[in-house]
Amino acid sequence: MTQAARDQRIGATILELHNISLAFGGVKALSDISFDVKEHEIRAIIGPNGAGKSSMLNVINGVYTPQHGDITLDGVRFNKMNSRRAAEMGIARTFQNLALFKGMSVLDNIMTGRNLHMKSGLLAQAFRLGSAVREEIANREFVENIIDFLEIQAHRKTPVGRLPYGLQKRVDLGRALAMEPRMLLLDEPMAGMNIEEKQDMSRFILDVNEEFGSTIVLIEHDMSVVMDISDRVVVLDYGRKIGDGEPDAVRSNPDVIRAYLGAGH
Ligand SMILES: Nc1ncnc2c1ncn2[C@@H]1O[C@H](COP(=O)(O)OP(=O)(O)OP(=O)(O)O)[C@@H](O)[C@H]1O
Ligand SMILES: [Mg+2]
Repeated sequence: MTQAARDQRIGATILELHNISLAFGGVKALSDISFDVKEHEIRAIIGPNGAGKSSMLNVINGVYTPQHGDITLDGVRFNKMNSRRAAEMGIARTFQNLALFKGMSVLDNIMTGRNLHMKSGLLAQAFRLGSAVREEIANREFVENIIDFLEIQAHRKTPVGRLPYGLQKRVDLGRALAMEPRMLLLDEPMAGMNIEEKQDMSRFILDVNEEFGSTIVLIEHDMSVVMDISDRVVVLDYGRKIGDGEPDAVRSNPDVIRAYLGAGH
């Protein structure tokens, strides 16, 4: 897709963070951060280690409660999110440190992402009663489609712990996709990957964005990846926002250059 076509795809603002501050004891993880995310965009968050990037995602999906500030999602203002409500409002995430069940198969791990879409109670599921069986079949089909999409058919029965790291990251993306998210929060989806794996993951992220229309908030250290695939970039440094805009503008922002040079990047 050309940049012009992408620009046309991008819709109205769906998420706004206003003056978010978050501290852990004396550590100010986030200081007065505001930015917004538009529908269908790929919005990157970058910054040196400890800048507050993961904390920011944890505020968006309600794992951390900021001491100050608020969040507007789909026009509704919240002083705090909670993770259940975030999931119900269509936010899914992947983790910097994988949160998969290593002993379980690829298929079963991705199935765990369907929990929110299971309507029958546990009892019906346990006894495999009519509606529960139909639901299970529909969910399996959905998961099989994700497996095809991510090109991991050959590994569907493999315990996740036996896969190379790059593929485990792909399974984690599959688990998040199984939630049918409107918004995907990806915490360093390419960390620890080689160049080829990074190219694959970049392509999957672009495909998810284009084919499913998901809005994507992405934390990534690899600058060339960020500059290639994101529409707009927020830059954090020591919990403060030091840059925000399109990749080219951010790249030539003196504060950003200074932060990266200072951090030895
Ligand atoms: N649960 C927590 N308890 C205490 N301090 C925390 C917690 N989570 C984060 N922090 C602190 O908040 C600051 C920001 O951390 P965060 O993990 O958000 O940074 P990051 O930008 O994601 O870094 P990295 O690139 O290393 O993943 C750090 O000083 C970190 O030690
Ligand atoms: Mg982090």
